[in-house]
Amino acid sequence: MTFGQLRTFVEVARAGSIRGAAAGLIVTEPTVSAAVSALQRELGVALLEREGRGVRLTPAGRELARYAAEILGLADTAARRVRETAGMAGRLHLAAVTTAGEYVLPPILKVFRVANPEVQVRMEVGNRATTLELLLAREADLAIGGRPPKNAGVAGEAFLDNHLVVVAAPGHPLARGTSVDRELLGRETWLMRESGSGTRQTTEEFLAALGVESPSVMTLGSNGAVKQAAAAGLGVTLLSTHAVAAELATGTLARLPVRGAPLVRSWYVLYLSGVTVTGSALGFLELLRSPDAARAVDDWLGPSREYLA
Ligand code: PGA
Repeated sequence: MTFGQLRTFVEVARAGSIRGAAAGLIVTEPTVSAAVSALQRELGVALLEREGRGVRLTPAGRELARYAAEILGLADTAARRVRETAGMAGRLHLAAVTTAGEYVLPPILKVFRVANPEVQVRMEVGNRATTLELLLAREADLAIGGRPPKNAGVAGEAFLDNHLVVVAAPGHPLARGTSVDRELLGRETWLMRESGSGTRQTTEEFLAALGVESPSVMTLGSNGAVKQAAAAGLGVTLLSTHAVAAELATGTLARLPVRGAPLVRSWYVLYLSGVTVTGSALGFLELLRSPDAARAVDDWLGPSREYLA
């Protein structure tokens, strides 16, 4: 078993086909097939089986894919630690859910960068599922999300308040009232992020808790699109105040006086339990634990920070 074969197999598992893996790795299809055949020969088990015109992983193949991702991630961590121990530039790999990647982490990364100019930083921004996948595969040292850890093997700590509010266009009739009840909310079109988004999940839970059944929903795939749609008067939306503080300050969006909002949540930093966080990742974790992180976000927001709560 070589790292190259394992890397190829992980790509087959991700892409779901030999052709997709070949395209992802920029190699030919026979090269991918040869790597899979070599693994099957060595292990003496079938790793793939035909499914229609494509292939799917056998149970043994799924097991190998899981271990292969872990082995490759661990090898990467080892290489980084060895380089850092020898005084070479460290690296920090983060995976963040969209809202945190866009509106929370940039100012914190700036503080980190000033203190650690030599560290190479990479931050993947995606939905909750992708973020956790990267952490579990050890492709990210730390993950940042809006929910506490639920997966076995993942630990986490809240590091910053995260309040969510219902917003709409400033001329929205509900923005003028003093209190918006459940019935009025049920008549609105709810602008929601894509499925897999933590904000969407929180919104669905919020509406269910209020007893709003089958609301009219429009799905938009980014915070930017949701905010623009709300400002254009297409509906209402529940978003983190980190994502809307600037628009609330300029008056592009207005907060609706909804009972039960703001929702008081936290931003969490997640890491693998049982794996010691070291090197640059430990430096970043310590920064998140310190008051400097919240201060950096506040300073970045300037006067619009008053819309956070
Ligand atoms: P999202 O995540 O930006 O993907 O919606 C936010 C959250 O997890 O609360």
